[in-house]
Amino acid sequence: MIASPPPLSLYVHVPWCVRKCPYCDFNSHAARGEPPFAAYVDALLADLDQDLPMVGGRTVQTVFFGGGTPSLMPPDLIDRFLQGASARLRFAPGCEVTLEANPGTAEHGRFDAYLAAGINRLSFGIQSFDDGCLQRLGRIHGSREAEAAVRLAREAGFDNFNLDLMYALPGQDLAMALHDVERAIALGPTHISHYQLTLEPNTLFAARPPAGIPDDDLGWDMQERCQARLADAGYGQYEVSAYALAGRQCAHNLNYWRYGDYLGIGAGAHGKVTFGHDGSVLRRWKPRHPAQYLATAGTPDGIGGDEQIEPGQRAFEFMLNALRLVEGFSLSSFEQRTGLERARIAPQLALACERGWLERTDEHVRPTPLGRRFTNDVISLFLTDLSDGSPKVPA
Ligand SMILES: C[S@@+](CC[C@H](N)C(=O)[O-])C[C@H]1O[C@@H](n2cnc3c(N)ncnc32)[C@H](O)[C@@H]1O
Ligand code: SF4
Repeated sequence: MIASPPPLSLYVHVPWCVRKCPYCDFNSHAARGEPPFAAYVDALLADLDQDLPMVGGRTVQTVFFGGGTPSLMPPDLIDRFLQGASARLRFAPGCEVTLEANPGTAEHGRFDAYLAAGINRLSFGIQSFDDGCLQRLGRIHGSREAEAAVRLAREAGFDNFNLDLMYALPGQDLAMALHDVERAIALGPTHISHYQLTLEPNTLFAARPPAGIPDDDLGWDMQERCQARLADAGYGQYEVSAYALAGRQCAHNLNYWRYGDYLGIGAGAHGKVTFGHDGSVLRRWKPRHPAQYLATAGTPDGIGGDEQIEPGQRAFEFMLNALRLVEGFSLSSFEQRTGLERARIAPQLALACERGWLERTDEHVRPTPLGRRFTNDVISLFLTDLSDGSPKVPA
């Protein structure tokens, strides 16, 4: 039983890009010609209608258009979607509404129209300001275009925007990684995401890794030095890869990391909803392929799957998210969000504290600097349910 369900967010997936990047494993597809965006908005609203009964009259706290490349979608269609959504759902006052934008798709006038449609935060996929790195990553934009896109957005009136950077790139050294951070800071974003390039299975980079990828030690040096420079400039790290000026953390992502609820609409989107009456948690996902999604949205086949999240799995999922946060979590929020008692995770917490990965008071748990370096090892402790007295302890 859960006294009140957690805050609710809305995620909207837009599955097309100009070109597929060789490192990317997101559900994104190279567009052949103009994607059928008008039909896609109809499908999104039908999809939303089908999910609505799960959330009754709950208020949406944040909206996030992710991709793929949502900035390929014409602003009038973003407007039509947002109007349709706000006729169906209550949006909280000051609701954060983010749109992911590829600098290669920025056109003059487009940002004004996004702002007028109700987008109040942008997230630019910059990746690097080094043209050689951008080329090796297969990006469609260069560094000048990236800077121009950010300036256009600012001139249009966007004062809240994120820049995505990646580091440990093929051919990159420490000075280059620091230089990227410097150029990002110079553009005055409120938020910077700083991701280590990972070779995801089923990508071109995994099949044929490019030469010159920095080793783990250099990757770690880059992370530490960039983190220190970002802190100097006022961007506090609050999650493994997320840095923000005071009060400018991404409310949408924070809701995921605090194991909040979200509706996920669009091709391949996932949602998670907690039901207050019995505390059960449901995960729902949608068909991944855009053509299949378009053909089925709003019908029973438009639901890719529904899965009840069992209690042991909920504890693990909570940790998977909360341990990414520098602030950690309170044990009462663990109880509220999972419907489980804190005793359930006591053995793993004790083990993680013993290993110097977590520190705790009676009520609060947070990762130590060592634990932050080995986030995956800490999280994997919670894969095994030790509360049944099982002697198995992960190595
Ligand atoms: C879904 S993408 C959306 C942004 C937009 N499509 C673009 O790329 O311009 C979100 C971010 O994830 C990061 N990302 C994608 N693949 C990655 C990988 N293999 N390793 C690390 N970061 C990755 C990139 O920084 C990217 O901007
Ligand atoms: S533009 Fe973004 S979402 Fe699209 S393929 Fe590249 S990294 Fe992935």
